[in-house]
Amino acid sequence: MSVQNALLSGKVALITGASSGIGAAAARVFAAEGAAVVLAARREQQLADLVDELTGKGLEACYAVTDVTSDAEVARAVQAAVSRYGRLDAAFNNAGYGAEQTPLHLMEQEVFDRIIDVNLRGVWSCMRHEIPAMLAAGGGAIVNTSSVAGLVATPVAAPYVVSKHAVVGLTKAAANEYGAQGIRVNAVAPGTTRSEMIEQWLAIRPDIEARLHEATPQPRTAAPEEIAEAAAWLCSDRASFVTGAVLPVDGGYTVR
Ligand SMILES: NC(=O)c1ccc[n+]([C@@H]2O[C@H](COP(=O)([O-])OP(=O)(O)OC[C@H]3O[C@@H](n4cnc5c(N)ncnc54)[C@H](O)[C@@H]3O)[C@@H](O)[C@H]2O)c1
Repeated sequence: MSVQNALLSGKVALITGASSGIGAAAARVFAAEGAAVVLAARREQQLADLVDELTGKGLEACYAVTDVTSDAEVARAVQAAVSRYGRLDAAFNNAGYGAEQTPLHLMEQEVFDRIIDVNLRGVWSCMRHEIPAMLAAGGGAIVNTSSVAGLVATPVAAPYVVSKHAVVGLTKAAANEYGAQGIRVNAVAPGTTRSEMIEQWLAIRPDIEARLHEATPQPRTAAPEEIAEAAAWLCSDRASFVTGAVLPVDGGYTVR
């Protein structure tokens, strides 16, 4: 089913971390807005179920099982989009995970390395393969998932804060490098959003949600769809002169 005049009508979009949370919400929003979506994450059953759900509604979707820490698997996911749909127009590099709530001086090196590997090197690896496909298509739009922790420091999560600040730097560097070639690169910076990641944090620190709400002008937790909507707009031609931007979708958390 083609969705005429929708936000992402006729686009081919790759979404990483699509098996749950913000990525799964993005799969539904992007597809409903007319994109053919290629869903990349590690958990095959969740991806297959989501593809069945979308194709059952007459929308275009397929999946590629992908660990973003494997450059070869990322390359295969981009290739899957190009082989199946002929090109790649948009990418939402969203896969990531949270730091354990450990003070900086007590954190094991392998925990630090793992967070950087997924949240930073994974995004870089995605862009490294997406950009040539977009250049071949004559341009494109990339959105990376940073965080409010990419704009300010959040408590006892130093490697996560580092990784998400670095995603902002990578986004700006790529926007600067590829703007003249028709590729826009932006980031979203979500505040507290209902997802598996936040449920894990809340299991360890049940008090944290109320404290985050107290620090947020819109005192609530976002639905993953609210982040997905911002990413869809940034991927669309309606954001045609927006590049290198970091859009907080945080209920105002970072204005204080
Ligand atoms: N939930 C929040 O409050 C919040 C706030 C700010 C930023 N974020 C960011 O949003 C993004 C999505 O997280 P979410 O909140 O939807 O949580 P989530 O745990 O539901 O989703 C994360 C997704 O990334 C995938 N993933 C993790 N490591 C991966 C890897 N190595 N390869 C491929 N996929 C991998 C997970 O399987 C999952 O599909 C992450 O980058 C996270 O850091 C979340």
